[in-house]
Amino acid sequence: MRVSVLGLGYVGCVSAACLASLGHEVIGVDVNQAKVDLVNEGKAPVVEERIGELIAEVVGTGALRATGDVREAVMGSEVSLVCVGTPSEPNGSLCTTYLERVTEQIGAALAERGGRHTVVFRSTMLPGTCMNLLVPILEKYVGGTAGADFGVAVNPEFLREGTSVRDFFDPPKTVIGELDPASGDAVSALYDGLPGEVFRVPVPTAEAIKYADNAFHGLKIGFANELGAVCQALGVDSHQVMDVFLADRKLNISPAYLRPGFAFGGSCLPKDLRSLVYAAQRADVSVPILTHVLPSNSAHLQRAVDLVERTGKRRVGLFGLSFKPGTDDLRESPLVELAERLFGKGYDLKIYDANVSLSRLIGANREYIENRLPHLAQLLADSVDEVLEHAEVCLVGTGDPAVLAALPHGDGPVIVDLIRIPDAEARRAEPGYVGLAW
Ligand SMILES: NC(=O)c1ccc[n+]([C@@H]2O[C@H](COP(=O)([O-])OP(=O)(O)OC[C@H]3O[C@@H](n4cnc5c(N)ncnc54)[C@H](O)[C@@H]3O)[C@@H](O)[C@H]2O)c1
Repeated sequence: MRVSVLGLGYVGCVSAACLASLGHEVIGVDVNQAKVDLVNEGKAPVVEERIGELIAEVVGTGALRATGDVREAVMGSEVSLVCVGTPSEPNGSLCTTYLERVTEQIGAALAERGGRHTVVFRSTMLPGTCMNLLVPILEKYVGGTAGADFGVAVNPEFLREGTSVRDFFDPPKTVIGELDPASGDAVSALYDGLPGEVFRVPVPTAEAIKYADNAFHGLKIGFANELGAVCQALGVDSHQVMDVFLADRKLNISPAYLRPGFAFGGSCLPKDLRSLVYAAQRADVSVPILTHVLPSNSAHLQRAVDLVERTGKRRVGLFGLSFKPGTDDLRESPLVELAERLFGKGYDLKIYDANVSLSRLIGANREYIENRLPHLAQLLADSVDEVLEHAEVCLVGTGDPAVLAALPHGDGPVIVDLIRIPDAEARRAEPGYVGLAW
């Protein structure tokens, strides 16, 4: 394919050289004439492993050349890969100035150019930037409709500086946010033959994936370093701890605990986090990430209360009370905390949890419920229907099949889904359904 790459910084330069070496005909563009000259001399404008040899090679064969003229590049290509910088503004917001300028230039060129052309944004940008900011610019300049008169896609890159050439040829994944299938096909054709799974998703999802990745990487590093500092203060070898931690592929290095759902609780996580943070404080070790895990959890729980408040309704049903399915353990259950916050605000509450009802019936946990939670004990219903008949808003905190099967569609109570019930995807389009974090 004939490809123009706009912006010859780290991302653009590596993408341009690697795409050229895959057999595409590539024109790189930069506003910085020094970078354009360097590329045309067969030299790399950035320092990266293997990039020098690669640029020399592809410029030598004529597969890559550079120019300062966006119009010339766009006119001579089927795909534009936008790789301009998106730095932080002083207040932390994303600077989209370079993106907007280059999009205007591409749009102006496309207005003159006949035939299908796909604009692919590779720069990192917040969800909504492409559809709400850049597509309107393109449509205005082109005088046409995205998806019909020209293609648009978002294709974030996951290369690491230092090893980006190697990563390009062996990527962890390829993410294609496509406005329409033809736009996605154009991006997919660029990387034909490369290994790794390809994900074709809506444009805003592709934008968000990059942030999920980088936020998680930062969080992992911060977590490991804080844990290391606490271990050091307690005289424990942190690397030995993490060697064992990392070997656990069931609960630690795994998809476990990584899907948005309800707040955590139970008899271990809150208690152990509190004592670890306390031990760090006693040892004078600052652990801001660990310190904020419980407040983060509490803020998440508050989101459920806020969703109920926003409905303006007073009669509330809560399905689920124990801290996770299959148990009647109520100690530090986040659903108990939620019930207490709602009760404290004067909501007219009814609660159903099959395991808790059963344990009341057989005497297990009865003492705990009746002594520690007498205010909640009197709110417990004996059946799903009793709650449904009462409630204007239903909070679903359990995957109990009897509860899920009884949940009404349409005109019934508002369903506030705390756990992402199995048919959440379909229900998301229905009025009267609200997901906690999806
Ligand atoms: N550096 C990385 O490892 C990395 C990794 C993944 C994603 N990203 C993202 O990719 C994007 C680019 O990052 P980078 O590190 O390559 O940035 P960079 O600052 O190194 O390069 C951007 C280049 O774009 C050029 N440019 C600006 N406006 C232009 C225009 N109108 N026409 C042509 N060229 C123009 C600049 O002169 C510069 O050379 C950013 O959104 C960044 O967040 C970077």
